[in-house]
Amino acid sequence: MTHAQRLPRRIFVTGHRGMVGSAVCRRLAAESEVELLTASRDALDLTDSQAVLEYFQSEKPDAVIFAAARVGGIVANDTYPVEFLSDNVQMATAAIEAAKAAEVERFLFLGSTCIYPRDAAQPLREEALLSGPLEQTNEAYALAKIVGLKLCQYMRKQYGLMYHSAMPTNLYGPGDNYHPEHSHVLPALIRRFHEAKEAGLEEVVIWGSGRPRREFLHVDDLADALVYLLQVPDPPDWVNVGTGQDATILEVARAVAEVVGYEGQIETDPTRPDGTPRKVTDVSRLHELGWHHTIDFRDGLASTYQHYLAERESDRLRAV
Ligand SMILES: NC(=O)c1ccc[n+]([C@@H]2O[C@H](COP(=O)([O-])OP(=O)(O)OC[C@H]3O[C@@H](n4cnc5c(N)ncnc54)[C@H](OP(=O)(O)O)[C@@H]3O)[C@@H](O)[C@H]2O)c1
Repeated sequence: MTHAQRLPRRIFVTGHRGMVGSAVCRRLAAESEVELLTASRDALDLTDSQAVLEYFQSEKPDAVIFAAARVGGIVANDTYPVEFLSDNVQMATAAIEAAKAAEVERFLFLGSTCIYPRDAAQPLREEALLSGPLEQTNEAYALAKIVGLKLCQYMRKQYGLMYHSAMPTNLYGPGDNYHPEHSHVLPALIRRFHEAKEAGLEEVVIWGSGRPRREFLHVDDLADALVYLLQVPDPPDWVNVGTGQDATILEVARAVAEVVGYEGQIETDPTRPDGTPRKVTDVSRLHELGWHHTIDFRDGLASTYQHYLAERESDRLRAV
């Protein structure tokens, strides 16, 4: 990075118990000059704008990494669109406005590549935002995220504040959700292959043709990218964060089976829906800024499986 800025000193990480927030806290723990600020939901409900304002006024952070959100799978998004829209809009607007009032220098908001239009060209470029209709199943969530992204952009434009956003691709790593129905594809595969191995099953059937292509980024890589972006002097209003590399679901399933040590057959079920044929981000803008992922998918998968085993063993496995 050219002319990197120093990391802000007091950094408030919202959602620090979540998958992304906890990875950011692990990453910032390596920065001796950083004073990490966190607040649990019991202590600070981020939808409560008055409480958020008071927190910012009293704690006076220099920067915020906004990793809190009401998140969920297709079923939850489809069942509770009101809460997905209003909670996420309230959290984002309360925090961004409180940051401005408390003269917070820097605010890094978390978007997601799932908020790009449903039919956006692949690989997904930053310009695709708002260029077409959204995916219906997560429209409420996407609208709320777009409000957060745009509010940061407007704060920068109107008030000269360095508020900007990152757009992560699918993540995996410690602290993921392993719910049997609500989890994302990678944790779902880890759980299924592990349980198939335990049960001695001769075959595991994966939904769909196995041909759709997907990209995965280790959450510790994301945390490193976020800390990096916080030091870029003039970052884009939003930038994709991913590997730019994709693999078919069948290839991913084979990799998971190998890491888990499952030796049975892997079958596909083409009668089940495939979803989008390809989802991968264009990371050229991020590379131009000087950041590149470092965690190889196989290595990340192997360590994630170890975390899965440890979380399971100690009854800390998240399955909500
Ligand atoms: N995971 C992915 O694959 C992925 C991919 C792209 C983008 N992202 C983005 O990354 C961000 C974080 O996602 P994640 O996967 O880390 O989610 P997560 O594990 O569910 O963490 C979300 C965090 O937000 C907190 N939170 C929710 N509502 C709150 C409220 N009203 N007040 C205070 N805290 C509240 C939760 O607190 P509790 O611990 O109390 O529940 C939790 O710690 C989201 O913006 C998401 O869109 C994630």
